Order: sequence, then C-alpha cells, then structure tokens
Amino acid sequence: MKLKAALALLAVVSPLIAHAQFAKPEDAVEYRQSSLFLLGNHFSRLGAVVKGEQPFNKDEVAKNAELVATLSKLPWPAFENGVTTPKSKAKPDAFSNHAKFKEASDKMELAVAQLNTAAKGGDLASIKKAFGEAAQTCKSCHDSFRAK
Ligand code: HEC
Repeated sequence: MKLKAALALLAVVSPLIAHAQFAKPEDAVEYRQSSLFLLGNHFSRLGAVVKGEQPFNKDEVAKNAELVATLSKLPWPAFENGVTTPKSKAKPDAFSNHAKFKEASDKMELAVAQLNTAAKGGDLASIKKAFGEAAQTCKSCHDSFRAK
C-alpha cells in the first residue's frame, strides 16, 4: 500500500482503536462508571419530567434525550478489557457472556434512540412511553450484570 493511502486509512480507523484503549487498565473502570454516571444523571432528569416532578419543557427534554442517546454509546468499549478493580460492580458474566451483554447494550441504545426521536417530536405521551421502555432495558441489564 502506498504510504499516503496507509496514512489516510490510519486516520479513519485510529479513533475507533483509541476508543477502547486506556493509559492504565483501571482507567477502563473509571471510564465506564463515569459515562454511566452521566448517562444516569441525564436519564433521571427525563424521569423527573415523566413522573411529573418537574415541569415539561420541550427543549430541556430534547436536550437531555439527545445527551442520553450520545452517552449510551460510550460505556461498552470500556468493558472489553474485563478489568474490575478498583470497585467495579460489574458481575463476571458481563465479561464472560459477551454476546448476552452486547445484546443488552444494543437493546438499550435502540430504546434511547427511540426516546430521542420521541423527545424531538415533543409529545409528552410518546415521551413517557419511550422512557418507560428505555428504563426497562436499563433494569434488565442491571438485574443480570450489575451487583447490588
Ligand atoms: C448492557 C448492560 C447495561 C445497560 C443496558 C445499562 N447499564 Fe447501567 N451499569 C451496568 C453495569 C455492569 C454497571 C456497573 C459498572 C461498573 O461498576 O464497572 C452499571 C452502572 C450504572 C450506574 C452507576 C455508575 C457509577 O457511578 O458507578 C448508573 C447510574 C447506571 N448504570 C445507569 C444506567 C441507565 C440509566 C441505563 C439505561 C438508560 C443503564 N445504566 C443501562 C450495565 C448496564
């Protein structure tokens, strides 16, 4: 391959590689917990609106749903090195049963993408329904793969 073509290819794939790499293996734990923390925070803000604890502001809801959809893609590569120290709550199955874990994360990403679409539409009833379905995908993965 010509050098120029090789460099162009590297420029395309290197962000994908960098995605799953960490300076220290334990950084993966912090990365996944931090991204899930942010995801949980913005998801809860939507939950407060859905439960009627906060007023329905379409723009705020759309902003949070967009963030949730973006954040939903971040945690998974940080599970790939299988590191659980320090203080990970991931059960061993999250690493050994990769296919089932991936299925659960795919389901969640799809559900929050649908929630994002509903949020952009601005209809509260559709948002509530999509939120409920997304919340179910969090719960089902936590039940199987996260220690109490
Ligand atoms: C594919 C499985 C999976 C899905 C789907 C999932 N989670 Fe989790 N979640 C985990 C695991 C595993 C942990 C523990 C990670 C660790 O400690 O290493 C976790 C941890 C968390 C934490 C704690 C982060 C911290 O501060 O340490 C929050 C908050 C969270 N998830 C929120 C959510 C929300 C909200 C959703 C749905 C929108 C969701 N999760 C969907 C597997 C999942």
